[in-house]
Parts: sequence; C-alpha cells; structure tokens
Amino acid sequence: MKCKITNNKIKNVISFGKMPLANGFLDKKDFKKEFFYNLETGFSEKLSLFQLNDHPKPKQMFNIKYPFFTGSSKYMKSHFQKYSKMIKGLLKSNSKLIEIGSNDGTFLKNFANSKIKSVGFEPSKNVSDIAKKNKIDSRNKFFSYKNILNENSFLNKTDIICASNVICHIPDLKDLIKSIDLLLNKNGLFIFEEPYLGSMFEKVSYDQIYDEHIYIFSASSIKKIFNLFDFELIDAIPQITHGGSMRYIISRSKNRKASKRLSKILDYEKKNNIDNFESCKKFKKDCENSRDNLRLKIKKLKENGKTICGYAATSKSTTILNYCNIDSTMLDYIADTTPEKIGKYSPGKHIPIVSMDHFRKNLTDAIYLFAWNHKNEIFKKEKKILKKKINWFSHIKL
Ligand code: TMP
Repeated sequence: MKCKITNNKIKNVISFGKMPLANGFLDKKDFKKEFFYNLETGFSEKLSLFQLNDHPKPKQMFNIKYPFFTGSSKYMKSHFQKYSKMIKGLLKSNSKLIEIGSNDGTFLKNFANSKIKSVGFEPSKNVSDIAKKNKIDSRNKFFSYKNILNENSFLNKTDIICASNVICHIPDLKDLIKSIDLLLNKNGLFIFEEPYLGSMFEKVSYDQIYDEHIYIFSASSIKKIFNLFDFELIDAIPQITHGGSMRYIISRSKNRKASKRLSKILDYEKKNNIDNFESCKKFKKDCENSRDNLRLKIKKLKENGKTICGYAATSKSTTILNYCNIDSTMLDYIADTTPEKIGKYSPGKHIPIVSMDHFRKNLTDAIYLFAWNHKNEIFKKEKKILKKKINWFSHIKL
C-alpha cells in the first residue's frame, strides 16, 4: 500500500476483517445485498500517519440518509457553544467564517446573531436541510477545490475555516489543503478537531477505526502533512470529546509562533512512540487482547443465563460487533434515540435497533455501553436504571 499523500510505502498495522459500512443500519429486506469491504489499517512512517489501507467511496457513506445529527447530544451542543466562543474571540465583527462538514448547523447557529459572514459545506442532504431550516447558509456539497471555486466572497478573504470530526473523513488531503490555501486570507487560520491517535492507543479504543475515519491524526502527523504545503501547525489543544480528541490550529508558514503547549505534545508523542511504528505494533496486540477479553466476558454472561443489550447504536459499534463477531444470539437488541435507526438492524451482525422506550420496558441483566464516550451524559440521564443491579460494561474501562 502507498500513503495517500506522499506515495511512500505504508506498513500494515492490523486488519479488522470483513466490515460493513459503520452507519449502514439496514432493513431485513436488504440483508442479502449488504456491502462489505476489508477494514485494514496502515502507518506511514514518513508522515507518522495512521490510516485506512482501503475505504468505501465517500459518496457511499455521506448520502441522503446519513443518520448522524450533531444536535443529538446535549454535551456536544454545549461543546460547540464553547468552541464557537473561542472562535468568536479570534474574529472581528465583519469577519468571514467557513465550516467544513457543518452537519445540522449546531456549530454555525452560534454565529447566527452576529455580523460574521458564515457558510457551511455539508454533503448529506438530510442534515444540510435541517441546517437550512435553522437559517444556516448550508451548501449541500462536499468541500473540495472544484466546489469552492465560485465562492467569490470567500476566496482569499476567509479569516477562519473550522471543522470538527470531519477532516479525518476526507481522503484527498491534497485537495483539501489546496482549497484552504485558496480561501484563507494572509493571516487566516484553519482550526479543526479530530479523534486523537494518542488517546486511541492509550484506551485501546479501536472502535474509532471505521470507514469514515480514514486517518487518525496526531500532532506529529498534522505538523508533517501541513509542512508539505507551506502551512504550519502552531497549536494543539487536547479535548475530551469522542474519547480523546485534539484541536489543531494551522497558519500560513512563518506567520505566527508555535505554542509551548504544542512542543510539549510533540515531545510526549516522541517519548511514547506515537510518531513511529513501535506504538502500532503494541496497538495490534492490545486490540487482539481486547477482543478476546470481550468475547470471554460475553460468553460467561451467556453461560450464566444473563440477557444483554447494547446502549446507543454508534458508528463505532460496527467495528466492535464485526471484529469480535458479536451477533443477536449474544445481544438481544441495541437501544438508540435516533428515529432513523430505530426499527432497523445493525450493520453486518443484524442486531435489532430499538427505541429507548423499548429499552426501559425490556431491561436486560447487562448493558454494553457502545457510546462510552458519552458516558457522563448517559449516566446522568439513566440514574434510575443505574440504581438497579445491572452490569454496565464496555470494551473500554467505564
Ligand atoms: P456516533 O458515536 O456514531 O456519533 O453515534 C452516537 C449514537 O448514540 C447516536 O445514534 C445517538 C446515540 N445516543 C443515544 O442513543 N443516547 C444518548 O444519550 C447519546 C448521547 C447518544
């Protein structure tokens, strides 16, 4: 395999086997024509970049039925409110702002009552339509060089381009950076946050790896990638979202000084081999152990006659269920709040997705918390159920 950016060879890290689309929740009638690909990961030593060796085409994933709504988590809403405050602090009243992957407009809504001119790019029609209803200027398009060429009022005039949990979805980083170069003004900043490789290695949260996450970045990889295009990473700010993320701030080269916080993070990555293949070797073993332990735990519960359900039909759960071969003989159902998922079946293993109402009426002896990264928000909501003698577990320590 070749690295998608430099054409250098990448080393294989781990294969998770045959995998359906992470968000491919489906009806019974579609089981036979379900799409599968091989979920394999690799590491480019030149760029310190962890990446998927192969992935389905973005159009297959971000289509009209994309079932993810940023606004579905209270915590994420408040996170984006705080994020927007930080961005507002960097902007003037008539500044220009672009969001890549603006989803249902949860982030841009925070700029609605200001003179800041903003626009969002969102390829999934259903979520883009919700943003439009909320009066967000949402382009129902992929963010790409071809698609920004007629944005005359933003070309070379944009002060900040923002993104959250979306840059790792974009296979062609060259096209992305070329587009950013065309849009940003001289002092413009590109600010984005993504799941952090260091956290994934530390927690063994291999469920961060699925079709939509083509790259899992670190500060080392971001620094090396942007240096190739005359941009500079000037800051990296750890975030607790999505089980450990990093917010990166990029400026044009030699424009601004890099922060002390960034040099500490780069040092940490060097010390812990996050910038080289050593950590990948350990990660492979950790994933295999995690899978074996999880299967053993579920096997024991079933041998003792216990019933188990899943809580939250996350995209991440698709990697776990398929890699660990967990099906509806082990989990009775997975409960979720998203109307688009309820009544369907989980990708690959075909476990029924049910409403929270069904969950409350059909409590099981054990609950697999798939949305472990939303644990605080969920445990607050589920206080009553937490008081009962139910075993909540996950592949990550709760
Ligand atoms: P994601 O990890 O792929 O973003 O999916 C999160 C899923 O978790 C989404 O389908 C909604 C669901 N969810 C709940 O069902 N209850 C909750 O309290 C939260 C925060 C999420």
